[in-house]
Amino acid sequence: MGVCLMKWQWPWLLYVLLICHVINRNEAISPDGEALLNFRTAVSPNSDLLPWRPEDPDPCKWKGVKCDPKTKRVTNLFLDHLKLSGSISADLGKLEHLRILALNNNNLYGTIPSELGNCTELQEIYLHSNYLSGVIPSEIGNLSQLQNLDISSNSLSGSIPPSLGKLYSLKNFNASFNFLVGPIPLDGVLANYNESSFLGNLGLCGVQISSTCKNDGSPKSNSQSSISDLNGKRKDSGRLLISASATVGALLLVALMCFWGCFLYKKFGKNHRESLAMDVCGGASIVMFHGDLPYSSKDIIKKLETLNEEHIIGCGGFGKVYRLAMDDGNVFALKRIVKLNDGFDRFFERELEILGSIKHRYLLNLRGYCNSPSSKLLIYDYLPGGCLDEALHERSEQLDWDSRLNIILGAAKGLAYLHHDCSPRIIHRDIKSSNILLDGNLDARVSDFGLAKLLEDEESHITTIVAGTFGYLAPEYMQSGRATEKTDVYSFGVLVLEVLSGKRPTDASFIEKGLNIVGWLNHLITENRARDLVDQQCEGVRVESLDALLSVAIQCVSSSPEDRPTMHRVVQLIESEVMTPCPSDFYDSNSE
Ligand SMILES: Nc1ncnc2c1ncn2[C@@H]1O[C@H](COP(=O)(O)OP(=O)(O)O)[C@@H](O)[C@H]1O
Ligand SMILES: *[C@@H]1O[C@H](CO)[C@@H](O)[C@H](O)[C@H]1NC(C)=O
Ligand SMILES: *[C@@H]1O[C@H](CO)[C@@H](O)[C@H](O)[C@H]1NC(C)=O
Ligand SMILES: *[C@@H]1O[C@H](CO)[C@@H](O)[C@H](O)[C@H]1NC(C)=O
Ligand SMILES: *[C@@H]1O[C@H](CO)[C@@H](O)[C@H](O)[C@H]1NC(C)=O
Ligand SMILES: [Mg+2]
Repeated sequence: MGVCLMKWQWPWLLYVLLICHVINRNEAISPDGEALLNFRTAVSPNSDLLPWRPEDPDPCKWKGVKCDPKTKRVTNLFLDHLKLSGSISADLGKLEHLRILALNNNNLYGTIPSELGNCTELQEIYLHSNYLSGVIPSEIGNLSQLQNLDISSNSLSGSIPPSLGKLYSLKNFNASFNFLVGPIPLDGVLANYNESSFLGNLGLCGVQISSTCKNDGSPKSNSQSSISDLNGKRKDSGRLLISASATVGALLLVALMCFWGCFLYKKFGKNHRESLAMDVCGGASIVMFHGDLPYSSKDIIKKLETLNEEHIIGCGGFGKVYRLAMDDGNVFALKRIVKLNDGFDRFFERELEILGSIKHRYLLNLRGYCNSPSSKLLIYDYLPGGCLDEALHERSEQLDWDSRLNIILGAAKGLAYLHHDCSPRIIHRDIKSSNILLDGNLDARVSDFGLAKLLEDEESHITTIVAGTFGYLAPEYMQSGRATEKTDVYSFGVLVLEVLSGKRPTDASFIEKGLNIVGWLNHLITENRARDLVDQQCEGVRVESLDALLSVAIQCVSSSPEDRPTMHRVVQLIESEVMTPCPSDFYDSNSE
């Protein structure tokens, strides 16, 4: 219309208005149809899967759509198993007469829109087997006619809303394999379901799954007891993480005593070399490891105050990263994590004490941290080479074969150290190319180890997993949320494939075919052309070491964790099979 009115001359105007009118008439689709088109927009680029025509008067003949024959209002939406990728539009809430919503077995991410609570005639909701995150909207409890609710196998977090107890028509309910936590409410119909509806949610407790909740016995203040229960859980999972080994308890105690010890030493004016805690303005304290930061807290705080947007060098799932240049010319990277929940500080400090004690050639050095009331600041070495993600996918100057091998070997050694030589052992949980940093010689440093676990209850982390990292996650980790060394090995395998191919694990070209990088590899293997995976831009590829490295990667991304090698073994294989001159090279050089 706007375009039409720009025509001035008035004999034309009438004519043009008439045409516009006709076109508008043709384009006027029913409100339900419009809501569905908005839904489709949010799940593009798979729009070719939904040949829905905006010119139609109503959506009733569209694929997957069923209407009431009289009212032409949408009643059923069957869009399962279509590889839809994107978020679920809140506009579905406008489908007032929707009875069945089947979006299961797609690649949907984002949250379940609370607006679904407006579709009061809904009888069946199938959202299982997607990557949905966020909480279960309490508005779902308004759907009094709902009989089936399957939200299993997603990444949903938070607790189960008691309002679901009002679903008096509910027959089948499945919330298995999510990251749900807290007590399962006993309200209404929720009391009727047993453990088979709640499988694989490690943080849930309740009589339905015969697991007693902490502090359950105190019916005094309900809300308080559930909050402290969550805190209890957080501590528990923290301990679980550290405590892969039997010596954990003792180690924790030692770490804690060291921490307090340092504190006391400081108080009594003794100079302690190991770590130094100081109180600074506003209750913030700066802790330095190993005398690694030869500055006074005052100097550091003064520098911190000058940091602004210009100094940002990156943003990730945990917060922003700044470049911190001291007056003496030393440069550090400062990671700012926005304040977490109260009561988290002690746990945080304990963990960081452990992370700060880990020094290794192929790990990013944590020099200290500042724990202020409003945020957590971690101070790391600054690495001039940036991250591998950029080096592979964003820089014009390509990494050659030998640099790629060198980076892979370094990353493998760093990870092997975390798994096998640290005590307590550390599972990284977030191996990906943006967490492999490069120094001036293009040597790898593994970064952010231990952070994923540290921040696992943060909602932002769940979104990182789903949006940024999901191409790296082992299938059993997606299912259970339980990280092991072998889930890291899988992610490392994906990383190797990424470095070899120069393609991101969730490159659009895979997603279009419904694959990820591992799926693509498997496809190439069945066609007996795995070597085609290698980046055409990469110079100096040696076929023998390519084959050997592919074979390592293939073992790492095996779908069953037992078939994956340990990181120690991976390092051995890379050193003996990939890096050393292989027989044919050997003969070649001999014959010359
Ligand atoms: N120590 C560092 N030295 C140089 N650059 C860094 C350093 N730490 C982080 N960066 C940059 O900041 C970006 C964001 O880091 P981070 O917050 O860990 O997010 P993510 O790992 O999810 O990308 C990284 O991709 C990297 O480019
Ligand atoms: C859902 O219902 C509420 C209140 O009835 C209304 O304000 C809102 O606009 C509705 N949302 C949609 C998407 O229809
Ligand atoms: C739907 O549920 C929400 C929260 O559970 C509630 O606040 C709201 O009033 C309900 N709306 C209707 C229309 O019942
Ligand atoms: C749990 O409930 C399902 C039905 O929802 C039933 O088939 C199953 O036998 C029950 N399992 C146990 C252990 O009670
Ligand atoms: C819930 O879904 C999981 C995973 O698909 C399945 O193993 C479990 O049996 C289902 N439970 C019920 C009650 O249907
Ligand atoms: Mg990182």
